[in-house]
Amino acid sequence: MGSPASGTLPDTQVRAMFDRIARVYDLMNSVMTAGMHHRWRERAAELARVGPGSRALDVATGTGDLAIELANRGAEVTGLDFSEPMLDLARGKAPGVDWVQGNALELPYRDGEFDAVTVGFGARNFSDLDRGLREMARVTRPGGRVVVLEITTPQKPPLAWFFRVWFDRVVPALGRVAGDPDAYTYLPSSVRRFPGPRELGAALVGAGLEDVRWVLTAGGIIAIHSGSVPGA
Ligand SMILES: C[S@@+](CC[C@H](N)C(=O)[O-])C[C@H]1O[C@@H](n2cnc3c(N)ncnc32)[C@H](O)[C@@H]1O
Repeated sequence: MGSPASGTLPDTQVRAMFDRIARVYDLMNSVMTAGMHHRWRERAAELARVGPGSRALDVATGTGDLAIELANRGAEVTGLDFSEPMLDLARGKAPGVDWVQGNALELPYRDGEFDAVTVGFGARNFSDLDRGLREMARVTRPGGRVVVLEITTPQKPPLAWFFRVWFDRVVPALGRVAGDPDAYTYLPSSVRRFPGPRELGAALVGAGLEDVRWVLTAGGIIAIHSGSVPGA
């Protein structure tokens, strides 16, 4: 079943939550990360290795910032999300990207259609992580890239202490100010129960990817995993 405090919610509730917070989502991201989230998306887009002539898909695209990073590199981009209010904001930012409502766990695409498939801060919300990763790998062509950008729990002090105070106290308080305490209680809980970098790397291998690597940035708070589909 799941609850905000356990950090696990069924699809219908995840979707309802993002429908509700769409209006404040971008502002909350900027406040919570002091604007650094743009740089993290740039690094994820670099690892997708796309350019003019490539086709890229960004799943759980939300308000579209990672999809827009991919489009800035000249790729033809589709951004997919199940929350229409989030997609509406994305449409307003970049009418040139193909914004599609759909479920990342059941992608409406044929095998190998894309040169790269990315997800930014979305994998944590998949009700079935392995299925979501398998779907991303399935629609990527042999030799194509899968990239996962996610928050992770830093293990070493002093950042581990700072992270605990920030996520367990400050973020829920910001959520109360933003009018949605549940959503911003769910956020730290979902990060805590999400696999660490090594386990997530193993999950990418389990989804059929090779050459799986990850970089940690922002003092170990952000993990960017990437891998390639075999058979190029
Ligand atoms: C934290 S937001 C991330 C948005 C964006 N990728 C970013 O980098 O800011 C997570 C998004 O994942 C979407 N989402 C979660 N599970 C999904 C699924 N199974 N299919 C499609 N979208 C999903 C939510 O609607 C929400 O917009």
